[in-house]
Amino acid sequence: MELENLLKELGIKEASQEEEVKRVSFTPETCDVWDFSYCDHRFGTKGYLGRIPGQYVQNILYYMEHDIEPTLFYGRITKVVDPMAGSGTTQDVVKWYNLYFSRDIKCFSYDLNPTREFIKYNDLDQGLPEEAKDCDLIVFDPPYYNMKKYNPGGYSDYLTFYKKIFQWAGEIYKVLRPGGCVAFFISDYYSGVSKYKEPLSMNCSQLFFKAGFKHRIRIPAPVRNPFTQNNKFMHLLREIWFLEKYEKEA
Ligand SMILES: C[S@@+](CC[C@H](N)C(=O)[O-])C[C@H]1O[C@@H](n2cnc3c(N)ncnc32)[C@H](O)[C@@H]1O
Repeated sequence: MELENLLKELGIKEASQEEEVKRVSFTPETCDVWDFSYCDHRFGTKGYLGRIPGQYVQNILYYMEHDIEPTLFYGRITKVVDPMAGSGTTQDVVKWYNLYFSRDIKCFSYDLNPTREFIKYNDLDQGLPEEAKDCDLIVFDPPYYNMKKYNPGGYSDYLTFYKKIFQWAGEIYKVLRPGGCVAFFISDYYSGVSKYKEPLSMNCSQLFFKAGFKHRIRIPAPVRNPFTQNNKFMHLLREIWFLEKYEKEA
């Protein structure tokens, strides 16, 4: 209180939330590889295993709304959905984006295991709620097979996982508006036993094509893991696939 009075006397007013946000300027990533070595602390929850750097979502929103990269340009976004929100990174970034660019984008976040007050319980196996319908963008960051087991047993084999991805692609297709985009994060997988790495990224993208999506662009988004756990995470590439809900012109 005393400090408040002193600031008032000196004519110093507290920065508004908007001014506070604009204090840290945003520079879009111009490289073909989006390589962030740390998670911006403003987005998602510290220590959450599987959290993506919010800088990805900042760039996704920026490039979709600004006519710079023609294949990524979408126009005005009004609604964003994250069906597997984890620690809530997407919604934190949308909140930041709205303040930074004076926008009013709505965001809905869901998860089987909600970790924040704004994340609602929803099992994507059962589809997405009505409020998610007609969205422009879905940020989709599912489990990368069994890299982290979000459900007790994980997935019993690759085929079971691929069936899930195909089913989830179908659910995502239902709620996107025509021309809408899913930014799909996926990494290849290594069991630590066989000498073959499972090309999850390539195979899952094919399943999205089969579900009716068209490829717009894909961006390497490497995971910077230290080489631990029997080098399980060594030389795995994560990618972001930008896939459009494609409807043939009449
Ligand atoms: C890789 S994490 C997402 C991390 C998030 N992008 C972040 O930055 O914090 C995957 C999430 O998918 C959720 N999940 C797995 N299966 C699901 C399902 N069937 N329906 C909804 N959420 C699911 C898990 O609970 C987990 O939180």
